[in-house]
Amino acid sequence: MAVLALLCASLPLAAQNPGSAAAPRVRRPGGGAGLDYEAYDPATLARGKATFTAKCGFCHGSNARGGESGPDLLRSELVRDDDDGNLIGQVVRNGRPAGGMPKFEISETDLADIVAFLHEGVRAEAERGTYKVLNIVTGDPKAGEAYFNGAGKCSTCHSVTGDLRGIGAKYDPVALQGKLLMPAGGRTGQRRANAPVTVTVTLPSGKSFEGIMERIDDFNVALTDANGDYHSFSRNGAIPKVVLHDPLKQHYDMLSKYTDAEIHNLTAYLVTLK
Ligand code: HEC
Ligand code: HEC
Repeated sequence: MAVLALLCASLPLAAQNPGSAAAPRVRRPGGGAGLDYEAYDPATLARGKATFTAKCGFCHGSNARGGESGPDLLRSELVRDDDDGNLIGQVVRNGRPAGGMPKFEISETDLADIVAFLHEGVRAEAERGTYKVLNIVTGDPKAGEAYFNGAGKCSTCHSVTGDLRGIGAKYDPVALQGKLLMPAGGRTGQRRANAPVTVTVTLPSGKSFEGIMERIDDFNVALTDANGDYHSFSRNGAIPKVVLHDPLKQHYDMLSKYTDAEIHNLTAYLVTLK
C-alpha cells in the first residue's frame, strides 16, 4: 500500500520529466527531481554491491544505510537527485575533505556499478515495509550454525551460550544483521563506545604509552592509559611510532568476503537464539 501511494505521488513529477526512453525505467520513489530509475541487471547490481562494500562500506555501512562516520546514502537527497552518476560521481572524485569524505580515483565502470547499487537501494528502501520483512530471514539456520562454528570462525570469539546468548531477542532481524556486519558502526578516528581500538605509542627515546585510543588523525594521536590518564602526542610522519589494535578488525575484514547466502544464513541462525 505504502509503495502504491509513493508511486502515485511521483506520477505528476514524472510526467513533467519524461526522462530517457532507452532502458526500462522504474519510477523514482518520492523526493528527488522526479526522473525515473533504470531497472538494472543483477550482474551490475552484484558488482556494485561488492565494489561499494570494499571501497565505501567501511564508512557508509555495507548496505549504504550509514555507519558512524558516513551518512545514510539511501536517504540522501543528492543520491535521489542523481542521474546516471552526475552528482554521486562529483562527490566521489572530488571528495569532501573538510567533511571526512575522501576522494577516490575510480574507473567509469566501478562508478557506474556503485551508482546502480545506490539507486536500486533507494528504490528497495522505499519498499522496505514489504521488502525487509519478507526477505531478510530467508536463510537456512542450520547452514548458518555450521558456518558460525566452522568456516566463519565466529565461535573463536563468540559463544551462543555466552556473549551472544539471547541475541535474537535483543535485536529485530534488520538490526541484528547490521550488528553482525558492523558491530560498532564505521567510526574510525575517534573512540568507540563498543570494543574500543587500543593504541601503543613509542617515542624515539624508547618510552612507550599504551591505552584506549581517544582520537587519531595525521597530526595527533591521543589515548587514555590503564590509570585513566590522558596522553596526547603530535605526529610527524613515522614519529612517534603508532600501532593500533582494533578488536573488530576481523569483523570489518569479513565484509568483503561474505557471500549473500552466508549473511542470510547467519542472520537466520542468530534470529533463533532467543
Ligand atoms: C572515510 C570514510 C568514507 C569513505 C571511505 C567514503 N565516504 Fe562518502 N562520505 C563520508 C562522509 C563523512 C560524508 C559526509 C561529508 C559531508 O557532507 O561533509 C560522505 C558523503 C558522501 C556522499 C554525499 C552524500 C550527501 O547526501 O551529501 C556520497 C554520495 C558519498 N559519500 C559516496 C561515497 C562512495 C560512493 C564511497 C566509496 C567509493 C564513499 N562515499 C566512501 C565518508 C566516507
Ligand atoms: C576476532 C574476534 C571476532 C570474530 C572472529 C567475530 N567477532 Fe563478532 N564481535 C567481536 C567483537 C570484539 C564484538 C564487539 C562486542 C561488543 O560490542 O561489545 C563483536 C560483535 C558482534 C555482534 C554484536 C553483538 C552485540 O551484542 O551487539 C554480533 C552479532 C557478532 N559479533 C557476530 C559475529 C559473527 C556472526 C561472526 C562470524 C562470522 C563474528 N561475530 C566473528 C569479535 C569477533
